[in-house]
Amino acid sequence: MGSSSAKMAQFSSYGDVDVLELVQMIKPSAGPGQVVVEVMAAGVNHIEAYIRQGLLRNELPTTLPQRQGSDFAGIVVEVGEGVTAFKKGTEVVGHAVMSSHANFVLVPQENLVVKPKTLSWEVAGGLYLAGITALTALLSVNATKGDTIVISAAAGGVGSMEAQLATLNGVTVIGTCGERNFDYLRQIGVQPVVYGDGMVERIQKLAPKGVTAYIDNFGDYNASLAATLGVTASKFSSSGSRKAIEIQAFRDSTPADNRLTQMLGTLVGLAAERKLDVLVSGFYPFDKIGDAFDDLEKRHARGKIVLGMRPVDNSFHGMGTVKAREVHEREA
Ligand SMILES: NC(=O)c1ccc[n+]([C@@H]2O[C@H](COP(=O)([O-])OP(=O)(O)OC[C@H]3O[C@@H](n4cnc5c(N)ncnc54)[C@H](OP(=O)(O)O)[C@@H]3O)[C@@H](O)[C@H]2O)c1
Repeated sequence: MGSSSAKMAQFSSYGDVDVLELVQMIKPSAGPGQVVVEVMAAGVNHIEAYIRQGLLRNELPTTLPQRQGSDFAGIVVEVGEGVTAFKKGTEVVGHAVMSSHANFVLVPQENLVVKPKTLSWEVAGGLYLAGITALTALLSVNATKGDTIVISAAAGGVGSMEAQLATLNGVTVIGTCGERNFDYLRQIGVQPVVYGDGMVERIQKLAPKGVTAYIDNFGDYNASLAATLGVTASKFSSSGSRKAIEIQAFRDSTPADNRLTQMLGTLVGLAAERKLDVLVSGFYPFDKIGDAFDDLEKRHARGKIVLGMRPVDNSFHGMGTVKAREVHEREA
């Protein structure tokens, strides 16, 4: 990608998706210990919408115009002095503070892990914030083999990862969703239950021996519902705690604390082995970033919504544009 056509997303006032704009960017240069990555895919997250709407100005101060974006996967294009683990051309997955929705991102080397070749760009690009939120929430309720957990919004980006990580630990998972997501949740090992009136009875029918843990991604009535089901406070993670986990992730995304990168490495390994399947139900070209957030903010996404910076274009590998039909014809 030439520097002259590089773009980044930013907003100059707080508001809905209309305030988001793509503006030209100058390709950054790598200082000591830093890496410049050409972004191939980057997930979108609710917290980014909240920041853009001005709802988190106290917790996460911003300066207008403000860039955005936490997750990304891409190809290293430049390394600074002292960078040894990555070189030009290395495929990586990483995290950034409010800057990955762009063609290029500049990060400390500590924010990157190598992307296994078997992991697709769109899955790699959507793993970070939802994944570390899921891992942290699950750890906080200490759900282990023998536990039965209820996860609200289980078909969403965060819930679907929590559910799979819990089943990997031998936990029985009941997930709340709309009926259209029943098949999807069953495919990832979750017993689906429709949210809304009568949910306690429906859950009790699915778990006659009781529910021992509860992760609420959605808010509303879930806290009182968990109490009614007899879940103890130490085994309940509220949607408020979830927000706090995400805010803390923004604050901790510094070279001094590579806890988040280690978690990302764990998620990348699980996804590459297909122990964690991330469904990307919306893969939007970068210039449709407003549509991607619009889709997310309707709050009925299944799995992740991800931006593709080079849709249907493999020219960065010197292969030209490869369409599925051409691959099929070449093999015939
Ligand atoms: N980022 C934060 O700080 C934060 C904090 C707390 C809560 N949340 C909220 O938590 C929700 C899930 O987060 P996410 O990142 O995984 O988002 P997401 O991918 O947008 O989640 C969408 C899922 O939410 C489900 N859903 C919609 N209405 C619901 C309801 N009334 N009860 C239970 N589930 C419902 C949908 O299921 P169906 O399509 O089957 O209805 C859909 O699969 C989002 O709505 C988000 O706004 C975010």
